[in-house]
Amino acid sequence: MRSVGIVGIGSYVPENIVTNKDFEQFLDTNDEWIVSRTGIRQRHIAPKDMPVSELCYQAGLKALEDAQIAPEEVDLVIVATITPDYAFPATACLVADRLGAKNAAGFDLEAGCSGFIYGVVTGSQFVATGMYKTVLVIGGETLSKVLNWQDRSTCILFGDGAGAAVLQPVKDGFGFLSFELGSDGSGGSLLSQPAGGSKHPASLETVEKNLHTLQMEGKEVYKFAVRIMGDVSVKVLENAGLAKEDVDLLIPHQANIRIVDAAVKRLGISPDKMVINLDKYGNMSAASIPVALDETFKAGRIHEGDIIVMVGFGTGLTWGACVLKWTKVGLKV
Ligand code: ACO
Repeated sequence: MRSVGIVGIGSYVPENIVTNKDFEQFLDTNDEWIVSRTGIRQRHIAPKDMPVSELCYQAGLKALEDAQIAPEEVDLVIVATITPDYAFPATACLVADRLGAKNAAGFDLEAGCSGFIYGVVTGSQFVATGMYKTVLVIGGETLSKVLNWQDRSTCILFGDGAGAAVLQPVKDGFGFLSFELGSDGSGGSLLSQPAGGSKHPASLETVEKNLHTLQMEGKEVYKFAVRIMGDVSVKVLENAGLAKEDVDLLIPHQANIRIVDAAVKRLGISPDKMVINLDKYGNMSAASIPVALDETFKAGRIHEGDIIVMVGFGTGLTWGACVLKWTKVGLKV
């Protein structure tokens, strides 16, 4: 098996910012409640005519430029999203086409906020086995399009964005050292968009009942998240034969500052190793982790050889984590 790493990264968020104060205009909520319960201060929201494929395209383009790789060299595009342009065709195919990645296979992957972790783990298998050399993994989301903007317990939490990573073989001992994935469908109803699929196809009734919008039992998801984030981070470090002291950076899914704080406490790593940007973006689901990774790298906080843990949880329920020994140097194989 070849070692696989991230040799290019990029991200994109739409320009339009919605602050907590903006919600006060049409909802019974306030900045103090939102900040104290979630840590979120603002989020970026895509215009009505901007589909998720546009965000994914912009992020993917930047990642390819960063890796100095031509689109024709990409063997596979994976888009992790729960807000695709269409039920079908796959957003990955649309993005590959826009990028000019005409030699690439493409498929979407649905694992909610764990989507980017599932995506890099899946993509890296193709590279590790030698089947493919270059895989572009994009986590992109426009949850704003499926929110009930009258439901104050959900619509204040989410934002839109996309982040991308180019996977290629890297030198031995670097790149992905371990991963851990899991799911529990018995918790599927805790966080879902009930209508529009084969169980409840679109009808007047589903629209009238708001069943095409995100529904969540926040408290239950919260309890699950705190438990799983800590547990899976410990497990993935064990899988890599590393201790918590070895971690240089922890990039958690950016759902809620209280969830992240509790997980970090449980893991016992120093808070200054944690990456937080949810105050600026809210929860961007599959895009949260790659956008945070990109920003952290651009800020000069990531160096060759650093040990990075990325960990997420989401609808499914799903969870996932990976340990990465950082290098951006791809092998000429
Ligand atoms: N503004 C003001 N009050 C509010 C708001 C709001 N925006 N939202 C809820 N409230 C009220 C509630 O109605 C409730 O009032 P009541 O006591 O009169 O009934 C009160 O505030 C407390 O509500 P709780 O639900 O107990 O608030 P909690 O502290 O649990 O925070 C939250 C809610 C932020 C949603 C929290 O439960 C949470 O973060 N859960 C996890 C959510 C999450 O991470 N989801 C993403 C999953 S990832 C994916 O795959 C997309």
